[in-house]
Amino acid sequence: MKADGCMVLLYGLIIMASLSFAGEARPGNLKAGQALYQQHCLRCHGAMLDGKGPDAAKLRVSPTDFHKYLSRVKGNLELEVTIRRGRKSTAMHEWDSLLTDQQVSDLIAYIRNAVPHLEVKP
Ligand code: HEC
Repeated sequence: MKADGCMVLLYGLIIMASLSFAGEARPGNLKAGQALYQQHCLRCHGAMLDGKGPDAAKLRVSPTDFHKYLSRVKGNLELEVTIRRGRKSTAMHEWDSLLTDQQVSDLIAYIRNAVPHLEVKP
């Protein structure tokens, strides 16, 4: 009985420690990001992140192909700004009011895991 109580306390401490770590750096969670992407973004940006989602053809401005050079050189902050604010005169509306900060980080982690950032040397 006593040992069980200790284990509960120990698990509690481990969970609290990992939560506070996540809160500090807010690293994106890949699995959560993938689920969010499939739910909200895939229909335009496509399963392969190539901008060829099922709804892409009917849009005047095509969704970004994340594999393109000009997208890969963008840092996380640039992606974040576009996700939060959207892009004027395109189907990419703002997501700030629909997603939490953590969800935006999760999505960026998913995109950048699938298509790594390209460092540009001047
Ligand atoms: C209704 C279609 C649609 C949906 C849904 C959509 N997007 Fe977009 N997205 C676009 C279009 C269109 C653009 C702008 C392309 C351009 O400006 O050339 C864009 C641009 C972007 C960019 C900018 C990329 C770059 O290299 O500049 C990011 C990042 C992005 N979308 C992420 C997302 C994420 C994350 C989601 C899901 C939460 C999402 N989009 C959902 C259509 C969509």
